[in-house]
Amino acid sequence: MTEPILEMKNVVKYYGDTAVLNGISFSVFRGETKIIIGASGSGKSTILKLIMGLDKPDAGRIFVEGEDITKFNERQLVSVRQKIGMVFQESALFDSLPVRENVAYRLYELGVDEDEIDAKVRQSLGFVGLEEAIDKMPAELSGGMKRRVALARALIGEPEIMLYDEPTAGLDPVTSKKINELIITLRDIKSVTGVFVTHRMRDAFTLATEYATNGGRQISFHTEDNFLCIANTRFLMLRDGAIIFEGPDEVLRRSKDEYIKRFLA
Ligand SMILES: Nc1ncnc2c1ncn2[C@@H]1O[C@H](COP(=O)(O)OP(=O)(O)OP(=O)(O)O)[C@@H](O)[C@H]1O
Ligand SMILES: [Mg+2]
Repeated sequence: MTEPILEMKNVVKYYGDTAVLNGISFSVFRGETKIIIGASGSGKSTILKLIMGLDKPDAGRIFVEGEDITKFNERQLVSVRQKIGMVFQESALFDSLPVRENVAYRLYELGVDEDEIDAKVRQSLGFVGLEEAIDKMPAELSGGMKRRVALARALIGEPEIMLYDEPTAGLDPVTSKKINELIITLRDIKSVTGVFVTHRMRDAFTLATEYATNGGRQISFHTEDNFLCIANTRFLMLRDGAIIFEGPDEVLRRSKDEYIKRFLA
């Protein structure tokens, strides 16, 4: 067995007297995407925050590429964060900086030279189809463009792990589709390991059933009795800080659990 790229073991997180996460355990392997679904306030963003080391769990352990990050100091966490790209729930661009500097942000921090920065920024913006926006300010961009700039920024360091917090929230279906396609490409062509938080089941099922080939895109084949999930993606559903479902989309869709059925409807 290969080692997971990301792993949570019995993670507990309190805010005040409330256990927001109450014994969460899961693993994500290389090139796999875990889709986290659950009601508002069920702890989805908290999981991403803990993986990034932006907050610490009260109990349990979190492993990133085999290293237990729960005891890491701030300096060690900086190096963990360099392996991870994150698209935040609200794009979170720096409004006073042009697109170029938003996307390059991490490279400036690392002291990379200007020529290399320029090439990497163009490459990253090219991937999301926004090279022409390089000199624009965030205020001049639409919501979907901002989200793609946020994606380009997260990708600049070529991270092996990507965390997506509702990357399509508030976007129209066409723009959402474009973002989902980029995420699928990262997963299938670049083997980027991902955690994708969403409450949009449509996006979740797209990610779970479509996969990218070098030539284009195909739907995975699965039938009732012959299950062949080509999309390397599994669901994890949270309720009141606990995992109530873990598995592939077709098992989720057939769940008899009343709460899950209501959630999917
Ligand atoms: N820094 C914080 N301080 C206090 N409470 C917090 C903090 N961050 C999150 N919480 C609480 O923890 C719970 C889970 O929050 P979290 O943001 O993880 O939910 P979520 O599943 O991402 O919800 P949404 O779908 O609305 O984004 C919520 O009740 C929230 O109010
Ligand atoms: Mg959230």
